[in-house]
Amino acid sequence: MLAVAFVCLGNICRSPMAELIFLDLAKRAGVSSKLLIDSFGTSDEEEGNGIYPPALKVLSEHGIYGSHTAKQMTLPDVMRFDYILVMEERNRTRLVQNVGGKYADKIKRLCDYTARPRDVADPWYTRDFDKAFNDIYDGCKAFLEYLIGEKKLD
Ligand code: 4NP
Repeated sequence: MLAVAFVCLGNICRSPMAELIFLDLAKRAGVSSKLLIDSFGTSDEEEGNGIYPPALKVLSEHGIYGSHTAKQMTLPDVMRFDYILVMEERNRTRLVQNVGGKYADKIKRLCDYTARPRDVADPWYTRDFDKAFNDIYDGCKAFLEYLIGEKKLD
């Protein structure tokens, strides 16, 4: 079993979108039983809240449905996941600060697996959930191809 966690700031928009998109892609590829997939925030500000409705809407437009309750990532979480994929560089900085820097090597930026390394666009102020979806989908697809190509799921 390979444990994969997606991380953003609040855990109500981008990282739960990534969790559900990646699960959908893994199911389509027939490898979901080999994966433990979850998502977290670097902050506890949204803890207990569900996925933000505009994020659910864009997911449903792509036939993806699910739910998630926001939670902050803590040191035991960082220890038990094999891959921790942040949406933005600032998520990595904050997470490394929160957990003391010891596990920095397994904290990766999602879209660094794509041909165009970048942050996932933050939809919170722009309201552009389509752009966030496209970045996350691109990153999740590239990351799954990496796992399969590197035989991490065999
Ligand atoms: P997320 O989006 O980090 O993708 O879940 C945000 C949620 C809340 C805030 C910012 C981004 N906020 O500033 O409250």
